[in-house]
Amino acid sequence: MNDEIFEKYIEAGAIASRILREGAKGIRIGESYFDLVESIESKVREEGASLAFPLNLSINEDAAHDTPSPADIRIFEKGDVAKLDLGVHVDGFIADTATTIDLGNNSLLLAASENALEAAIKKVRPGATAGELGAAVQHEIESRGYRPIANLTGHGLDRYVLHRAPSIPNVGNNKGTTLEEGMVFAIEPFASTGSGHVGEKSRVEIYSQISQKPVRNPAARAILEIVRDRHGLPFSRRWLTERKQDIALSAMVRSQTLHGYPVLADIAGSLVSQHEHTVIVTADGCVVTTR
Ligand code: CO
Repeated sequence: MNDEIFEKYIEAGAIASRILREGAKGIRIGESYFDLVESIESKVREEGASLAFPLNLSINEDAAHDTPSPADIRIFEKGDVAKLDLGVHVDGFIADTATTIDLGNNSLLLAASENALEAAIKKVRPGATAGELGAAVQHEIESRGYRPIANLTGHGLDRYVLHRAPSIPNVGNNKGTTLEEGMVFAIEPFASTGSGHVGEKSRVEIYSQISQKPVRNPAARAILEIVRDRHGLPFSRRWLTERKQDIALSAMVRSQTLHGYPVLADIAGSLVSQHEHTVIVTADGCVVTTR
């Protein structure tokens, strides 16, 4: 990795870290999801950076991939466990970071994912395996009486690419990629009071373009016009203004022009916490870009 690219990763990380920390303070009982998310997303744009994906705000058993709908009326309530997952890019170089805010009495649950993240970061160096990081995550979470979410993983990052090798598991295994200097990836432990597995809900608010083939429908064309400079990075239904957009979105998912990301949730009534940082592997450890 050359210095110019390294600096862009660092810049994206610094912006993401600052905005996530400040933005999380806005999570209070009675505050609207919509207002909070819109204000945090605007700050990224004000910094001259871009969103690598719509700000994810996932509550309680929802682990990932929720974001407010265009007319979302939900507000934060007492007892909520709210996850904010922010992706920022500078010229395509991505920082991915998440934190959890507790509006109840769940400090031990939050400590589980937070300590899991720190334990995994300590293991990062060339020659370590992704499975060793997963084992550290699993130990920290299970020793506190919770379950790591086994079917969600951290992921490698590249220019305009959100998911690539290495995959960083949240449970130990003997396999997995051997880490090398210069690799960039996000580590994101999830701790759950539920089953430790997520399934898909019917709610879909986030999409990405997966094909460049031309579309004829005017509403579909208008949507692709809005998202074409995203290089395939995800976007939100909330960012669109086209009438008939929902019909067009469904049609484009069916024709495999778009991919939809359903909300991922553990069992109803469970609580999930998440902490995430992006790291760059160095000769003797790693740099955490999102501290
Ligand atoms: Co991530």
